[in-house]
Amino acid sequence: MAKFSALILIAVIRLAVALPSYESLVGLNEREINEYIARHGVAEIPNPPLPLADGSIKLVNNPSHPFIPAGPTDIRGPCPALNTLASHGYLPRSGVARPDQIVTAVMEGLNLGNDFAKFLAYQAFLMNGNPLTNLMSIGMKTPGTGPDPPKPALVGGLSQHGTFEGDTSMTRVDAFFGDQAVFNEDLFQKFIATSAKFGFNGTYDINAAAELRNDRLQDSIKTNPQLVFTSPRIISAYSEAVFPTIFFVDGRLNNRQLTIDAARHFFDFQMMPADFHRQPAPVNFTMVDPLTKAIFNKHPFSPGVNHGKNNFVLQPQTPPLADFCGIYEDIVLRVIPGQYPRPHGVLRKALNKNLGFLFGAVHAEHNCTQVFPFGRD
Ligand code: HEM
Repeated sequence: MAKFSALILIAVIRLAVALPSYESLVGLNEREINEYIARHGVAEIPNPPLPLADGSIKLVNNPSHPFIPAGPTDIRGPCPALNTLASHGYLPRSGVARPDQIVTAVMEGLNLGNDFAKFLAYQAFLMNGNPLTNLMSIGMKTPGTGPDPPKPALVGGLSQHGTFEGDTSMTRVDAFFGDQAVFNEDLFQKFIATSAKFGFNGTYDINAAAELRNDRLQDSIKTNPQLVFTSPRIISAYSEAVFPTIFFVDGRLNNRQLTIDAARHFFDFQMMPADFHRQPAPVNFTMVDPLTKAIFNKHPFSPGVNHGKNNFVLQPQTPPLADFCGIYEDIVLRVIPGQYPRPHGVLRKALNKNLGFLFGAVHAEHNCTQVFPFGRD
């Protein structure tokens, strides 16, 4: 009997692996999870990487990290930084990675500070990754992340709309209009025009960032009947507007003015410019937060959703951009349990471990209180 159910389970897994990605993986039930684990063992969850031993400036587009365009089976997604890091081999070129690999890649390749890197990577992993196999796609859903935990878990990869990925992106259309993960030339032309009008010498700087961020929101309010602009999307939208002025600028210059040529490399070619050097020192929340605040202050907004075009309804019950700990709690107490309503056993353990890593990243620089959606271990 045990042999029979093991065979069925293998068949289920094989089937899951064979099916096309979007309708693919059959959510395992608890018994199947236990059987799967008895057979394959549970993926080891390494501790988060420590800060870099040497966080100084460095040539990162170097011979040991050559650009190789994504092959037909390599996955790329909505994040220009992770796409580029995968195309230079800082991440697995396949586009499927463990969260700790993502932390290492953004520290090594772009000099993100350790806390900041962990905040982004573990938050994304909890919303878009597979806690059982410890793998996440940086783009579309894929069988490459192994058999899924039970639904409503999505394990959708970073392209999964309505999790980390959301509306009003700078170079991607809203999901309502098409593929929300793919670079869009028309929007990039808007990026260039906004930089020409507001940025110093036509560069994408903090002033251009403030105007483009606001423009993208106003445009979606007018045109996208299904616009959602609430926590947690608001925090990624505002920090992602600032990131290119820091991390995509060569660390030797480090003037917070991104040339259109360098922007074209990262956003469109998924490639570091020739001779690119990372930031001269690790960049943490203390450096990013004031810039995010500055662009918010130029064009403040309140979170809301569209009920039809041009009908933006405020959502006062959700945390605003200024409430960092409120957004942390919203992710941990609402968004993640939305996918994992009643996790048990190893699944719960894996989730709790990753939740601990996430909190470790937020409490150093933000004085938040830890919350436990699945109880304490
Ligand atoms: C460390 C882990 C990271 C994760 C998990 C991550 C994830 C994501 C995701 C899911 C999106 C899509 C959001 C959306 O527009 O709907 C995104 C967009 C973006 N990311 Fe990342 N990201 C990471 C690091 C970085 C870094 C280090 C940079 C540095 C420049 C960066 C720059 C951007 C930018 C500029 C966008 C916006 C693209 C656009 O609006 O067109 N990301 N990222």
